[in-house]
Amino acid sequence: MRKPIIAGNWKMNKTIGEAKDFVEAFRVEVASVKDVEILLCPPYLAVHEVAQRCQGTNIAVAGQDVFWKESGAYTSQVSAKMLLDAGAEFTLIGHSETRGRFGKEDMTEGQFAFFAESDETVNCKIKVALAAGLKPIMCCGETYNERQAGNTDSVIKGQVKNGLADLTAEQVGGMVVAYEPVWAIGTGEVCSTPEAQRVCAMIRAKIAKLFGDVAAESVRIQYGGSVKPDNAKELLSQPDIDGALVGGASLKVPDFVGIIKAI
Ligand code: PGA
Repeated sequence: MRKPIIAGNWKMNKTIGEAKDFVEAFRVEVASVKDVEILLCPPYLAVHEVAQRCQGTNIAVAGQDVFWKESGAYTSQVSAKMLLDAGAEFTLIGHSETRGRFGKEDMTEGQFAFFAESDETVNCKIKVALAAGLKPIMCCGETYNERQAGNTDSVIKGQVKNGLADLTAEQVGGMVVAYEPVWAIGTGEVCSTPEAQRVCAMIRAKIAKLFGDVAAESVRIQYGGSVKPDNAKELLSQPDIDGALVGGASLKVPDFVGIIKAI
């Protein structure tokens, strides 16, 4: 049985003080929740504060990204060791916003590729995270244009194959993959439940093909993209959806608690 995993991705929201207030209220609300893994992904600057306040609770902490070098002259970057030291147990890798894929369009003129993420950098980051003992959550998802062009399945399969390249079946089996259609992120336009289930099942089948049935049965696959308290129950009851990666609705305690309790 795969344990459901619900992660709240705060993106570039909340100061340390705001994060502290959130956790103080949140940890009481979810204290009785069992059999669900709960994660908070604060901005880097609040990771330590949130991790300190989640010690001894049923809430774990994740970074929003990690760099693929251990240390050195990489201005602005954060290493796996630093995240672990600050108290994180997981990290997001390859979120569409770090891949430079926004809203309904791929990056267009006037937007900037501020992280220049690719499947190759995603793969490097996953390897470094695993080697350091940090659990990766690899995000994948198609843009609106890719879906319109009928390329959803090939885009996702490519991201899964290239992002997980060279890993062992055991490593993949212990991972989390988040399916986040880019057009559904922060837009209020949720992917239909049958379609979210179909793509998550396809990801599992692709993992079975690449790494075997044991890895495919144990890897946890989340859906992300406009998950709210009122649509969470239906999405999370699907056989191949093992949890949710929640952005906007994880910023307010009642909304995020509502999603967790929907399971
Ligand atoms: P959203 O974001 O829930 O605000 O759509 C999800 C995500 O980007 O992880």
